[in-house]
Amino acid sequence: MPKAEYSLPRHVAIIMDGNGRWAKQHRLAIALGHRKGVETLREIVRYSSDAGIEVLSLYAFSTENWKRSQTEVAALMTLILEFFRTEIDELDEKEVSIRILGNIDALPAAQHQAVNAAQMRTADNKGLQLNIALNYGSRDEILQATIALAHQVASGHIRPDEISSEMFENELYTKGQPDVDLLIRTSGELRLSNFLLYQNAYAEMMFPQPLWPDFTVDLYKSALKSFQQRERRYGGRTT
Ligand code: IPE
Ligand code: IPE
Ligand code: MG
Repeated sequence: MPKAEYSLPRHVAIIMDGNGRWAKQHRLAIALGHRKGVETLREIVRYSSDAGIEVLSLYAFSTENWKRSQTEVAALMTLILEFFRTEIDELDEKEVSIRILGNIDALPAAQHQAVNAAQMRTADNKGLQLNIALNYGSRDEILQATIALAHQVASGHIRPDEISSEMFENELYTKGQPDVDLLIRTSGELRLSNFLLYQNAYAEMMFPQPLWPDFTVDLYKSALKSFQQRERRYGGRTT
C-alpha cells in the first residue's frame, strides 16, 4: 500500500468507546460488542502500520474498568488473550513493536504471560510502535513517576531542583515516544477518561459520533486528513 500522501501525525491515540452501546443497539450480549470492536481494532492497526504512523496508542482497558460485572471483565480478558494469540505472527511480520501501557502485574496469569511474550518478541521491531493500554490509568502513571523520582531524591542520587521534564517523561510508560498529536474518541463522548493526561497536553482532539464497532478505515483516513487542516500553535502565534 502506498504511504499516505499527506503528512501524518507521529502519534495517534484512540479511546475505543461504544462497544456496549453497539451491542445494545443490535440486541446482542455485551461480549459480542467487544468482539466486534476487536475487528475494528485489527483494521485500524493494519492501516496505521501500512500508512507509516510512528506510534498508535489504543485504550483497551482502564484501571476503572474493573468496576464492570465479572462476566464483562472475563469476556474482555478472553478477547485480550485471543488477540495476542491470533495476531502476534502478523504483527511481528509487519515489524510492529508492542508496548503495554499499564500495570500488567494485576492481570490474570495467562494474559500477563501472553502480553509479556508479545512485548519481548517484538521489542526490536522497527515498524509501528503499538501501545496497548491495559489496566492503564493516567493518574496512576503520573503518581508512579513521582514516586520513582522521589526515591531517586531520597537516595541522594539527584537533588529536587535537578528534576527535569525529560527525567519525568522517562518514568512514564511512553518513555522515548513523542507526545500525542491526534486523539480520537469514538461514540461522541467528550472526555479523556484518565487516558494519557500528560502526553495529550497539546494533542488535537476529535470526537467522531460512530460507535467503535462501526468505526472504519475510511473514517480514520478522514480524521487523519482533517488533522492536516488544524493549525497547531502551542501557545505561540502563527501570523
Ligand atoms: C469501550 O466500549 C471498550 C472498553 C471500555 C473496554 P464500552 O464498553 O465502554 O462501550 P459503551 O461506552 O458502554 O457503549
Ligand atoms: C474509556 O472508556 C476506557 C476504554 C475505552 C478502554 P469508558 O467507557 O470506560 O469511559 P467512561 O466510563 O465513559 O468515562
Ligand atoms: Mg464506554
